[in-house]
Amino acid sequence: MASNERSFSLSNRAMGLPERIRFADGDVPFEHIWSIEDGLGDPRNGNSCLGCHINNGRSVAPEGLVRASGPTLMVSLGVDEAGAMIPHPEIGLQLQDQGVSKEGSLTVTWEETSGTMGDGTPFSLRKPVIQVDSLDLDSVFTSLRVAPPVFGGGLLETIPASDISLGADPYDQDSDGISGRVAEFDGEIGRFGWKAQEPTILSFTESAFTEDLSLDYERASELFGSDFLEDTAFYTSTVAVPALRGHLDPNIQMGAAWFEQIGCAGCHRTRPWVTGSHEVRALSNQMIIPFTDLLLHDMGPGLDDGLAQKGAESSEWRTPPLWGIGLTSTVGHEHYLHDGRARTLEEAILWHGGEAQSSRDAYADLSSSDRALILGFLKAL
Ligand code: HEC
Ligand code: HEC
Repeated sequence: MASNERSFSLSNRAMGLPERIRFADGDVPFEHIWSIEDGLGDPRNGNSCLGCHINNGRSVAPEGLVRASGPTLMVSLGVDEAGAMIPHPEIGLQLQDQGVSKEGSLTVTWEETSGTMGDGTPFSLRKPVIQVDSLDLDSVFTSLRVAPPVFGGGLLETIPASDISLGADPYDQDSDGISGRVAEFDGEIGRFGWKAQEPTILSFTESAFTEDLSLDYERASELFGSDFLEDTAFYTSTVAVPALRGHLDPNIQMGAAWFEQIGCAGCHRTRPWVTGSHEVRALSNQMIIPFTDLLLHDMGPGLDDGLAQKGAESSEWRTPPLWGIGLTSTVGHEHYLHDGRARTLEEAILWHGGEAQSSRDAYADLSSSDRALILGFLKAL
């Protein structure tokens, strides 16, 4: 398979012609650069889905004053008795930092800390420092979020909820130190977003049009047809997952064995899932390995930014899928984790704490050649 800037933009190969046409229809609003005339709102965070999900991959690394294609900032005054986020009276739940009537300007700088591996190899990690000119940050909770890649979502959505629940172990009854929890709210289970805060690709797509673009749906429907929202969701649901590369290479197989051995697969599940039935054949009854259990995990104080959201505590994050992660740099920028703090795959691993602490420590205690095998395995995904 070609790995270039189109790596995350191909349609699922198993789709028939009518589905490919719908895919193409949904690609148009996703790539479209919206203007005020066709329904773009003010204030907003960006003017195009593709502007943040660059080549369907991640958004640009946050640095300095955030621009239209940058990360977004969640803002909350805390949670109410039912666990729902309390919106800021002027800003709501997401700072809209672009447009004539923007709610404030967001600036991100970085604070470096250093550490050493078991063998003495030094490393440096960075953590974001956030500034918002219109906000007293001592009186609110905030969480910086970069855009994750957008592909394969339809497959994740079709995994039966009961199978996801089977993997949960909230009281760690098997005593492996990992106690994944299903994100549950309003009778649904969350699967998408860094906190598993949305149940479906359609609901996420709708919130993206509403929050990120502040879209006027009536105008947008006039331009792209009344099904533009569903079509866009269909498009993002059916973007193909890149194939594995080099999985017969013995070094990559040794990396995979280490991944298993030091407990990474405890959350980035390597056992295949089988999707349920779906009217789109390419999504139906598929055997997939997205390297996620779709559960929330306590990742420790290092990744805890203080903001609880939907069913998730501030220290809890959804295990992100790792499929396609080895191609990240081919479609744009290389940075990882919910706020883009990790500049390399290794830095992402070193930030793991909480339920993943022992796995992270085991990684840091490996020899440099064994660490390289694990990184080589990730690069092949
Ligand atoms: C200003 C940048 C920005 C723009 C514009 C934007 N997004 Fe996003 N998108 C994000 C961020 C940030 C997240 C992660 C949010 C989170 O989890 O807290 C995200 C997450 C998503 C997800 C969830 C992916 C997953 O698997 O968890 C989908 C789907 C998505 N966006 C679709 C869209 C669509 C469709 C559009 C256009 C209508 C769009 N986005 C526009 C920044 C953006
Ligand atoms: C306890 C569950 C758990 C274990 C064990 C675990 N991870 Fe993770 N991993 C996560 C979560 C949750 C995140 C997202 C954290 C965040 O964004 O703040 C993550 C993020 C990542 C990322 C970055 C993904 C992205 O899209 O930015 C990589 C790479 C990764 N893990 C690799 C590993 C490796 C390698 C191991 C074994 C050394 C491992 N993980 C062990 C839960 C786990």
